[in-house]
Amino acid sequence: MDTIQIKDKRFTISIPEEHILREVDRVASAISRDLAGKNPLFLSVLNGSFMFTADLMKRITIPCEISFVKLASYQGVSSTGTIKEVIGLNENITGRTVVIVEDIVDTGLTMQRLLETLGTRNPQEIHIATLLVKPDKLKVDLNIEYAAMHIPNDFIVGYGLDYDGLGRNYRDIYTVVND
Ligand code: IMP
Repeated sequence: MDTIQIKDKRFTISIPEEHILREVDRVASAISRDLAGKNPLFLSVLNGSFMFTADLMKRITIPCEISFVKLASYQGVSSTGTIKEVIGLNENITGRTVVIVEDIVDTGLTMQRLLETLGTRNPQEIHIATLLVKPDKLKVDLNIEYAAMHIPNDFIVGYGLDYDGLGRNYRDIYTVVND
């Protein structure tokens, strides 16, 4: 399937699954090497990162824990800037090495908000792992240590990412066709 239609938009395949998994492999190796002996707590940000999280975690080779939080700031195809609260963080992260697992860092405002919230709970250190970064849209200064891929400033779906709730199920990543 090279092209898909979701509601009013057409998308064309831009990053095939095998390419994604190669990059996820690379990130998992780097994290396993860097955080060995630290029993990191991976905090996966739902919904968008569910597929990335599953593939990443299968490749992490060190002892670790995983938990899930929710935090949404996005509707339709442009960032609204409205940030919601973090839901579901029940773990005590005091003194822990935390790795935030995100689908995409766009403006970075969501990530900044998450870092602020987690920072008040006295973790030892917080690292960022994201499937995608849109560097041209970044509005804040973030130390993104583990990024699988950098992409242009186009709207995408698939591999967990959605357009209006749809498209998360595709195994490849698709970019919107502007016609
Ligand atoms: P930020 O706060 O602007 O960095 O937005 C991050 C959130 O926006 C991500 O977690 C995604 O849910 C969503 N997002 C940003 N770009 C895209 C995209 O191209 N497709 C689908 N969702 C996106």
